[in-house]
Amino acid sequence: MARTPSSRPRKPNAHPTTDKMQAWENIKKLRAEADALDDPKPNAQTVTGVEFAGDPFVYDFDYNVLDARGSAAPPAWQPHRPDLPEKFEGGKRFELVSDYRPAGDQPAAIEALCEAAQEGDKDQVLLGVTGSGKTFTMAQVINRLQRPALILAHNKTLAAQLYGEFKNFFPNNAVEYFVSYYDYYQPEAYVPRTDTYIEKESNINEQIDRMRHAATRAILERDDVIIISSVSCIYGIGSVESYSSMTFVLKPGDRADPQTVTRDLVALQYKRNDVYFARGNFRLRGDALDIFPAHYEDRAWRVLFFGDEVEAIHEFDPLTGKKTADLEAIKVYANSHHTTPRPTLSQAIEKIKAEAKARVEWFEQNGLLIEGQRLKQRTDFDLEMLLATGSCAGIENYSRYLSGRNPGEPPPTMFEYIPDNALVFVDESHVTIPQIGGMFRGDYSRKKTLSDYGFRLPSCMDNRPLRFEEWDAMRPQTISVSATPGPWEMNQTGGVFVEQVIRPTGLIDPPVEIRPVTGQGFTQVDDCIAESRNTIAAGGRVLVTTLTKKMAEDLSEYMHEQGLKVRYMHSDIDTVERIEIIRDLRLGNFDILIGINLLREGLDIPECQLVCILDADKEGFLRSETSLVQTIGRAARNVDGRVILYADSITGSMKRAIDETDRRRAKQVAWNESNGITPQSIRSNIHDILNSPYGKEGVTIGLGADSDATANVKGKGRAKGKAEVLPEAGAPGHNFKTALADLEKRMRAAAADLEFEEAARLRDEIKRLERLELGM
Ligand SMILES: Nc1ncnc2c1ncn2[C@@H]1O[C@H](COP(=O)(O)OP(=O)(O)OP(=O)(O)O)[C@@H](O)[C@H]1O
Ligand SMILES: [Mg+2]
Repeated sequence: MARTPSSRPRKPNAHPTTDKMQAWENIKKLRAEADALDDPKPNAQTVTGVEFAGDPFVYDFDYNVLDARGSAAPPAWQPHRPDLPEKFEGGKRFELVSDYRPAGDQPAAIEALCEAAQEGDKDQVLLGVTGSGKTFTMAQVINRLQRPALILAHNKTLAAQLYGEFKNFFPNNAVEYFVSYYDYYQPEAYVPRTDTYIEKESNINEQIDRMRHAATRAILERDDVIIISSVSCIYGIGSVESYSSMTFVLKPGDRADPQTVTRDLVALQYKRNDVYFARGNFRLRGDALDIFPAHYEDRAWRVLFFGDEVEAIHEFDPLTGKKTADLEAIKVYANSHHTTPRPTLSQAIEKIKAEAKARVEWFEQNGLLIEGQRLKQRTDFDLEMLLATGSCAGIENYSRYLSGRNPGEPPPTMFEYIPDNALVFVDESHVTIPQIGGMFRGDYSRKKTLSDYGFRLPSCMDNRPLRFEEWDAMRPQTISVSATPGPWEMNQTGGVFVEQVIRPTGLIDPPVEIRPVTGQGFTQVDDCIAESRNTIAAGGRVLVTTLTKKMAEDLSEYMHEQGLKVRYMHSDIDTVERIEIIRDLRLGNFDILIGINLLREGLDIPECQLVCILDADKEGFLRSETSLVQTIGRAARNVDGRVILYADSITGSMKRAIDETDRRRAKQVAWNESNGITPQSIRSNIHDILNSPYGKEGVTIGLGADSDATANVKGKGRAKGKAEVLPEAGAPGHNFKTALADLEKRMRAAAADLEFEEAARLRDEIKRLERLELGM
């Protein structure tokens, strides 16, 4: 239900004035061009033409191929909205805890967003200038409306930053993190050209897995849930029906004996292990049954039986065995998102068999014997595993049958778990929305190859991300958030947006100056270095963006030779290190950070006083209006922030970006004058980011008796700084797993020796390292 400007009475701030609409129309066109570059649409040839034109694999199951050729999803498809089960821990309110008070344009924006949401507007856009505190506005809206929320982020660094922020804002509510393994690991794939099969990363990350379970459980059991997710939440997971039916509740006084309960646990994919008690395991000792639930990290449940009755249940610390609470009831969820009730499983197995038989025959008839053989082996093995254990590796590929869906229908996703009253916030929507559209395309060719070469049944293609139209049909009320919203979200609202131009601490848009790229005895590099020196002398930090990798490398080397403390951030640097680099810059371990396309939206670096954009007049994706506005915005969190664009001519993008900045600045200055406000730099604690719940600095622990090495928690490739003296032993990467295994061994040994304090200390260290690996 797209809203038009005239559909509701005018509210201050919520509706653009006519000239703004006009300005918007003008820039929308150009923005669309930039965004097309932002998300290069696969050309029609690769997706629809060449790839399938001579396709030898025209098999019976080719509905997916038809889909990819462009025909819509099956006509009968209706978004599946399962009935959500009654909540076990419902009724809890959101409680926003913060020292901040809404300021600047925040109060009006919060008001406008809440009001429109309550009126039932399906789409809204929050156009808040860079650094205007959009995250805090989102938190306020959630708190005001008391509605669960799903927040989508377009990359891991930002997802982790948001998770840290929301955890701090809502310490008493369920703030969860839901990302795909594929955000961190390689999915299953086959490369025909080199005949390389890449297995799905089988060593799943405990933290991600646990947090995924915590997220799905929380959204079904509580009302006060905020899930921070990457765009991969549009991938398939188990159905709500199976997931919520595969649970059981135990209360003191219940008639139940340990044997029945352990059988139930096995059906939920819990494993018995009386020696090694870890997440997803249970152990039985006499009348005491210990369960380590899938969504907990350092708590477990003990069920005490008396004959065939549950006598008591309590929560305890699995490491020390210390009881932490008495419980009135527990609800056990399955240890896998793909657990399926027996009857459904039996039906599914029959269908898988039938498809496998037909497909193998087809391979054989077409002389593709290796493919046929491969497929037969794989499915036979999987079917045996399914029969015997109720699960198998890569079970999600059978999701069509397990979830009882029709061919071509979308798989269940997180969007079936979130209730109808949930709010979806799409952060940095100009990047995130195009990504949602891109997921299906990227996934499709990978799955198609697997199926073509007999690694998977064709039906595996139904285990896939949602198509854009499907996502659009599934999503509840949505608020797109960006300083530079894209065409899709603006179209959805008919050009209407809620604006945040006045920043909470009165900061104005930084002055933007244009200087020539070259002149007599002058180059942009010399000038940039001279200006950087001035800024550093004044205690500020500098961001520089170049157009190419080569230039970034050369420049950082050159600056280094000039005695400047400089680093370079490029796409090969992983999330953990990116977070560290930004922290080190903020701390002043170095002063200048050079980048190409990474110093953009979302990054919160209040110490940044100078942004230099080299070759700003080279029109293109990297110097589009969106890119310029986002990069310029990094200087908008500091009172002394300023920007230099090096350009010999003024491009359309530059002009629009500068004009818009000027327009905003005028408004901001007027506001400050009429309200007697002196702008202040944003004070965001560096501590807050580093010590976000998932990145605590902790004690450093030796790596074992036979090693002098110290667990260095710093990332690889660290240049300078206090941690340099430490060897790299514990750094994520090569030795990381060994170091973790060693710590774990020592933790268990300590616990066995009843040295619980030492064990707990080691456990915290392990946790910290694991989280560090995730870059949180
Ligand atoms: N009411 C407030 N008072 C003081 N500081 C605030 C307030 N609201 C937000 N901030 C701080 O302002 C800074 C910028 O906020 P935030 O990161 O949410 O900006 P943004 O609008 O999302 O910018 P971007 O477009 O760059 O992502 C943060 O450090 C945040 O902690
Ligand atoms: Mg932001």
